[in-house]
Amino acid sequence: MKPRAVHLADLDLLLRLCEDVRPGAWSRTQLSDEMARKDARILCVDAAGTGESRVLGLLLARSVAGELEILDVAVAEDVRRRGIGRSLLTSLLARAQEEGVTRVLLEVRASNRAAQSLYADHGFVVEGRRARYYPDGEDAFLMTQHTPNRTVRPAPVRAEAEVLENIAEGGGNYRLSLAIPNWPGADPGQFLMLSAGAWTDVARTDPLLPRPMAVFRQSPLGPDSARVETLYKAVGRGSGLLAQAQVGQRIRVVGPLGGRFPLPQPEERALLVGGGTGTASLYELAAQAARTGEVDVVLGARSEQDLMGVSLFRDLGVRVHTTTEDGSHGLRGRVTDLIPQLTAENPQSFSLYACGPTPMMHACARLAEELGVPRCWVSLENTMACGFGVCLGCAVPLSEGGFSLLCRVGPVYSASEISWEGLP
Ligand SMILES: Cc1cc2nc3c(=O)[nH]c(=O)nc-3n(C[C@H](O)[C@H](O)[C@H](O)COP(=O)(O)OP(=O)(O)OC[C@H]3O[C@@H](n4cnc5c(N)ncnc54)[C@H](O)[C@@H]3O)c2cc1C
Ligand code: FES
Repeated sequence: MKPRAVHLADLDLLLRLCEDVRPGAWSRTQLSDEMARKDARILCVDAAGTGESRVLGLLLARSVAGELEILDVAVAEDVRRRGIGRSLLTSLLARAQEEGVTRVLLEVRASNRAAQSLYADHGFVVEGRRARYYPDGEDAFLMTQHTPNRTVRPAPVRAEAEVLENIAEGGGNYRLSLAIPNWPGADPGQFLMLSAGAWTDVARTDPLLPRPMAVFRQSPLGPDSARVETLYKAVGRGSGLLAQAQVGQRIRVVGPLGGRFPLPQPEERALLVGGGTGTASLYELAAQAARTGEVDVVLGARSEQDLMGVSLFRDLGVRVHTTTEDGSHGLRGRVTDLIPQLTAENPQSFSLYACGPTPMMHACARLAEELGVPRCWVSLENTMACGFGVCLGCAVPLSEGGFSLLCRVGPVYSASEISWEGLP
């Protein structure tokens, strides 16, 4: 299923595919003229191993002055939902990156949620709406991607951060505030690697490795530094040492690392679901999403004392719902119990974001599919060693085969990208 460049000899097969998918969209002359253009970037996927001469998928684009415009993507109806569109797009973007393209743009039907979701997975955002763009009167969304490489982000800093606060909040939960010099700003979903406990002149070897923690909140502290907060639970040696760090001591940090949660599309409602310490990844997302649309946050834990950050989320003005397994706060049950109720009115209008234990995120992914919620994002919290792509210890199995490094490509993924059964 590897995409390849097309040749003029493919014209008949390409035309047949176009006629099957959207009759009349491309005439023979238009298609052959397009293929002859110097600025054309056209890829196709052949039916492999069947002995059949057939093209299953086609992507047409033009590359002009550092910009790439995607003109059409066609996938044969009987082979949809098998990742053909995704592999065409991934190959095109990889080539675009090699060519130094700085912006990729396309139009997509306002009703085509599946395609919008695919593009959003690749970092496209909606930049505008073209009214009655299509011949049948339907509107188009203009979607663009400014950073073809999902991993292009501000360079992380490596710093000794001063502990400003390290407050026990009950249930083994702590809120750690750090002053980090030269902080470039984190996007929602990014994380830090923190030394296990305060840094001293004596190098610590137990534990040797830093621990990943989500950036919970951030605010400017001075011209060159920021106050960056994490919410964490003391669960073992590293986080236990972190809990002992005193105000004024220093903690080694590297960050921000990893990728971000995409923001909801225009007119979409955001439903954020945090289980236990997963809550920490969602605060900056809630704050940004609340600026443009409706946000519901569901926070869950075993009992009231394990809940994290409830009042801080409320202060954002978003709707906060809580669940506890013992019924000590909010609804007795699990976070997933509230999802059907909250999305009941119009599931299609929601984007679901989840962070927490793997079984919880898997349950959210299944529910999104069952309920017809078109976009579901998860932020995985698998064990990490280095945090920047060297040890290969954080590899996550993908539904289309192969692995992805959670610390470089993740921790945020579209739920459909993950092979859930293969996760630890
Ligand atoms: C991207 C990312 C963001 C994270 N953000 C946060 C956060 O904001 N707040 C927070 O409290 N935790 C967060 N975690 C989890 C946190 O990194 C671990 O809890 C921590 O590394 C445990 O280290 P430890 O030395 O205290 O525990 P260890 O002594 O290493 O282990 C103690 C126990 O914790 C379990 N454990 C270890 N690592 C994890 C993990 N990644 N997830 C779940 N259980 C684990 C072990 O199985 C063991 O039972 C995040 C993890 C990742 C990958
Ligand atoms: S944690 Fe080392 S490669 Fe990801």
